[in-house]
Amino acid sequence: MEIEGRVVKGLGEGSHYVQIPEYKNQFIERLGFTPYPGTLNLRVRGGLEEFVEREGIEVEGFTKGGRSFGPVKCFKARIGGIAGAVVIPARGRRAETLEFIAPVKVREVLKLADGDVVRIELL
Ligand code: CDP
Repeated sequence: MEIEGRVVKGLGEGSHYVQIPEYKNQFIERLGFTPYPGTLNLRVRGGLEEFVEREGIEVEGFTKGGRSFGPVKCFKARIGGIAGAVVIPARGRRAETLEFIAPVKVREVLKLADGDVVRIELL
């Protein structure tokens, strides 16, 4: 399946979350790659409904320093030939934005700027 997404700015938090060892190690184990520290934010029309129903790869939540970090659902996907994963937090997700993680900085490799439209191929 393929969907289109528009490249948008995030909240500058993706790099922090991706590097937390409890998340990072699960990405490595369950997705098979070490993610570039950050998430590429993509605005999708129609929202995330289908992902909620679709079976994904679960990354477990955890508690650390008195804070709780929620579970994340991952879907292996490819953008412009780059294999990575769509990651959707179980909590606090924004209705029309998904996040993509990959071993490389997708913006750099594909020369993407805010507003560009990409095809997300779900594997
Ligand atoms: O500030 P924002 O939340 O959008 O980004 P971030 O998660 O802190 O990631 C830093 C920058 O790398 C942003 O411009 C992301 O779009 C980009 N990025 C990328 O191109 N490829 C990735 N695999 C991860 C992040």
